[in-house]
Amino acid sequence: MPAEEIIRVEHLVVAFGDFKAVNDISFEVARGEIFGFLGANGAGKTTTIRTLCGILNATSGRVLVDGKDVAASTAVLKPYIGYMSQKFTLYPDLTVRENMDFAGSLHNMPKERIAQRSQLLFDFIGLKQIPPGPVRDLSGGDKQIIALAASILHDPELVFLDEPTAGTSPQTRQVFWRLIERLAQKGKTVFVTTHYMDEAENCGRIVLMEKGKILALDTPQQLKKSYFPQEMKELTFTRPLQAQIAAEIKQRGLGAPSAFADKLRLSVSDEKAFDAFAREKAEIFSVQSVPATLEDVFLRAVSGAGGNV
Ligand SMILES: Nc1ncnc2c1ncn2[C@@H]1O[C@H](COP(=O)(O)OP(=O)(O)O)[C@@H](O)[C@H]1O
Ligand SMILES: [Mg+2]
Repeated sequence: MPAEEIIRVEHLVVAFGDFKAVNDISFEVARGEIFGFLGANGAGKTTTIRTLCGILNATSGRVLVDGKDVAASTAVLKPYIGYMSQKFTLYPDLTVRENMDFAGSLHNMPKERIAQRSQLLFDFIGLKQIPPGPVRDLSGGDKQIIALAASILHDPELVFLDEPTAGTSPQTRQVFWRLIERLAQKGKTVFVTTHYMDEAENCGRIVLMEKGKILALDTPQQLKKSYFPQEMKELTFTRPLQAQIAAEIKQRGLGAPSAFADKLRLSVSDEKAFDAFAREKAEIFSVQSVPATLEDVFLRAVSGAGGNV
């Protein structure tokens, strides 16, 4: 594992009563990495982040941040960590500037430094005019991006972003990712959760999480390679008969197709048998070989079909 590790998680369990929201996970994150956590709602992403920030206590196992036990070092680690919570964290009745001042005051930042850092961040995100009114009047995307700016105002080394782009426009998502990449270029570590597969592609490494467990951890490229050593087949149809054809493919043991809009995608074990099947089916309009996507990987990992990971 990376020499310069900034996060080390060992057999972490976080339980609420009898329920283990995080169920024995272990991993390390290297300094300067963009590390993604990908999983459906309820997978345990937020619980993991909150424990890594020292907000929640581990039930068992341990978390080291910068070599220190997080549970025992929250005060020491406070300047070191930025956290953008999944819940809306700005004060809706305050203006953008007032929110930034407040965020800075939590870190005892002098007024000039708050102004200087705010300007730098606003310039970067392309916010030319700071809206004078209360934050509640801003668009969802603007609120999210200002919440991100507030969480990194104190220039932390390690940034936790919990679904920062949820519900925002593609343009806003682009701004977010430019900023995340910029942080990583400056040597900061970004720990980000998402359920957008295309966003996960931007991460150096990703964890696939499901029901409190880590299903897989690797680079996006390697995950695709491990789960799908060959290309996928993508089928289109002359008539909307995907469900019927999918059932037949399964029944004949030719693969386990997933439906995407009006297409089916599957990984084929026996090319010959599949080609013969496809030729005989008039309803199949085309068969194309396409590379696997992270969405394919995720569906396969979650369905428990497993890969070579
Ligand atoms: N404070 C809590 N008390 C009880 N259950 C909780 C609490 N927080 C989270 N959970 C449960 O833990 C599971 C994981 O939640 P969470 O970490 O928020 O998942 P994610 O962020 O991946 O959607 C969910 O089933 C959720 O209902
Ligand atoms: Mg969450």
